[in-house]
Amino acid sequence: MPELAANLEPIVNRRLLTTTPSAIRKFDQEISGIPGIVKLTVGEPDLNTPEHVKQAAINSINNNESHYGRQMGSLKLDQAISAYLKRKQNLVYDPETEIIVTVGATEAIATTIISLFNAGDEVIVPTPTFALYFSLLHLFGIKAVTINTAQDDFLLQPERLTKTLAAHPHAKGIILNYPNNPTGREYPETLIKKLAVILEQHQLYVLSDEIYSELTYGTKHYSIARCLPEQTILISGLSKSHAMTGYRVGYLAAPQKVIKLLTTTHALLVTAVPNMTQAAACEALSVRGDADPQKANKIYAERKDLISTGLSQLGFEIIPPEGAFYLFAKIPAKYGTNDLTFARELAHSARVGCIPGSAFGDGGIGYVRFSYAASPEKIREALKRIADFLNN
Ligand SMILES: Cc1ncc(COP(=O)(O)O)c(C=O)c1O
Repeated sequence: MPELAANLEPIVNRRLLTTTPSAIRKFDQEISGIPGIVKLTVGEPDLNTPEHVKQAAINSINNNESHYGRQMGSLKLDQAISAYLKRKQNLVYDPETEIIVTVGATEAIATTIISLFNAGDEVIVPTPTFALYFSLLHLFGIKAVTINTAQDDFLLQPERLTKTLAAHPHAKGIILNYPNNPTGREYPETLIKKLAVILEQHQLYVLSDEIYSELTYGTKHYSIARCLPEQTILISGLSKSHAMTGYRVGYLAAPQKVIKLLTTTHALLVTAVPNMTQAAACEALSVRGDADPQKANKIYAERKDLISTGLSQLGFEIIPPEGAFYLFAKIPAKYGTNDLTFARELAHSARVGCIPGSAFGDGGIGYVRFSYAASPEKIREALKRIADFLNN
């Protein structure tokens, strides 16, 4: 195996040395070796990709769709995304000029951050939230101005946004994520409208990661792009809604001028998304695919109730989940506020894996995230083990 020449080691993007890799994956790996551990760690559907979606990918391969595709995505898929956004959210995006198909929402986030901001810029990030944003901002020398939402029941409040904008008048963007990873909180339409009124008065982009928009319990998702189409970069994907994490399909929707910029970066990074996964996504986002997230929702809703009731009965203070497939729970008072220590103890002593809340920024300190994208048997076993752990 080749050893890197010692004199090459110092040659590196220095910011990378201080960029945290996914704290979720890191912790997951740390505890994965514990024999017999029940992991409620990663945010990945345990369901299979729907058969009709899989078949579309197979057909694409069999039809020899093996050439470089259109950089912004196959027109057929862009049309399907456009129709889907209209059907679900009453959003209007031109499939030819206002949508890009990306390698998962991950690439959509990276492409947007790289394209719009410069080193030294400030971007507002309410926390707790998906940690990828922090890592990418840091890697490109962009400063995250965080707002801790823990004191506001994990929803960004208009007053706090106004205060932050007053203190950071030159902020170039804000990154919203709802339904939220890790809290499962969903922003009500009324709150989105209030936040939009404030954001409209500022010269900044709104990056809205709505990848869990299909997974809500009770309320219907309301995209901020409906209020601020001129300012919003809508980010989403099929990983969660259609159990397609491994297919790596996401998308961006935004005004044409910004899509042009984003397309340059996207094409430089990846050229285009593989044809077969685009074909699968096209089928998933067709009217035929509308039933898939509905079916999944029913399954997740039962698991949500199971884990919410179970943890509440064990004395955990929980954030009642309104979307996604995460349950955010405060660690019991007798364990203090060190969520990393608690999560480690739970992993080693109870053999239950969860993610420390601080992996999602300051707003997550003192909490842990349980993913209930896991079978009811696993959830029941985890609850039993946690009960034994607490009783001892
Ligand atoms: C909020 C959020 N955005 C984006 C992603 C990444 O999604 P994708 O698999 O489409 O890259 C995740 C994955 O966990 C997520 O939780």
